[in-house]
Amino acid sequence: MSIRKTVRFGLIGLGLMGKEFASAVARWCHLIDDGPVPEITAICNRSDQAAREWFTGNFDSIRLVTGDYHELIESDLVDAVYCAVPHDLHERYYIDILRAGKHLLGEKPFGIDAAANGAILEEIRKHPDLIVRCSSEFPYYPGAKRMIEWIQSGAYGRLMEVRAGFHHSSDMDLSKPINWKRMIERNGAYGSMGDLGFHTHHIPLRMGWKPQTVWADLLNIATERPDHTGAMVPCKTWDNAVITCRCLDPVYGAPFSMVLETKRMAPGQTNTWFIEVYGTAGSARFSTHDPRSFFHLETTGREQGWTRVDIGADFWTPSITGGIFETGFSDAFQQMIAAYLSEFASAGAPHPFRCGSPEETGMSHTILTAACESDRTGKRIDIDL
Ligand SMILES: NC(=O)c1ccc[n+]([C@@H]2O[C@H](COP(=O)([O-])OP(=O)(O)OC[C@H]3O[C@@H](n4cnc5c(N)ncnc54)[C@H](O)[C@@H]3O)[C@@H](O)[C@H]2O)c1
Repeated sequence: MSIRKTVRFGLIGLGLMGKEFASAVARWCHLIDDGPVPEITAICNRSDQAAREWFTGNFDSIRLVTGDYHELIESDLVDAVYCAVPHDLHERYYIDILRAGKHLLGEKPFGIDAAANGAILEEIRKHPDLIVRCSSEFPYYPGAKRMIEWIQSGAYGRLMEVRAGFHHSSDMDLSKPINWKRMIERNGAYGSMGDLGFHTHHIPLRMGWKPQTVWADLLNIATERPDHTGAMVPCKTWDNAVITCRCLDPVYGAPFSMVLETKRMAPGQTNTWFIEVYGTAGSARFSTHDPRSFFHLETTGREQGWTRVDIGADFWTPSITGGIFETGFSDAFQQMIAAYLSEFASAGAPHPFRCGSPEETGMSHTILTAACESDRTGKRIDIDL
């Protein structure tokens, strides 16, 4: 029996995503590859005692619990950090993690704005030995995997249009209290684009679909929300964003349109991530709204009919789940962590779809910064990726 390498993780931020990460680690036996195994050895949050107890009650491996992230990143118990904290902390935390010599799986948007992202990228360049990636789990749905493979086959012919988006609806409840994700100073001036944008950019950028121009329409619909006392306070973040880009088909060199949507107020959608690709020879679409379905069509004549393929548990990293069973968010998130861990393996083929790279976060920030400028000026903005 081979002895599998262990990567010891410290978690900074024990909220929604910190718990999701931990739960994925707890059922690592789900995966049947022989790659490195994650172990959670240290946790850090600001003050929430109940969250700490959830972790320590479920993970015997945790030996350090702290409210000071410096203690965690300096600890010999930690090889890598999963950092899931509000956006205003990304720059300082990510840079300090790298300076402490720890590998980093950081949450998007990888800096509250382009300047913060630039500072993080500059620090990354000083540590080429560290494995630094940005979280983005949706490409690890089997339907998204099928989409990536379909794109790589060139079945679309020449690209005409790509639509990628992420729709939420919980903000339709106007009595929902304001939280850090709806405050410019903590979430950033990008609003919903900072929260959801990288999810929509990851596959297009990896496919080489780099926008040359950006035009954006940004909406702040819920202009006030109750605070924790119930008093109404201003809510200044963008709720819904539609970005229209002009790209060049990397194969044909011809222009095509790319529409990137990030909406917190999309009636009927809980957490719908989707990508649609339309080409002269073929088209395809996938949405987490209907996670078992991959639709594609071949354009052979005047009439074209969509084919729906019922996708089972066809993951990048093999799992114990029967091939006919359904996939959910937690599966995709675990698959993403497996993609990150595959980079710690000393042998074997590289993962076919690696986690978001620092350079891709940089391109994402360029798109979002141009979107803000476009909305402000009403102009189409040229960018150079
Ligand atoms: N990949 C995804 O699908 C996904 C989904 C939601 C959020 N996110 C990202 O994850 C990150 C965190 O979001 P979340 O939803 O988990 O937020 P959250 O509010 O649920 O949790 C944030 C955590 O950060 C901790 N924290 C805040 N200030 C801190 C400090 N000074 N020191 C240490 N800990 C501190 C809080 O105690 C809390 O545990 C953000 O970057 C967000 O964009 C990613």
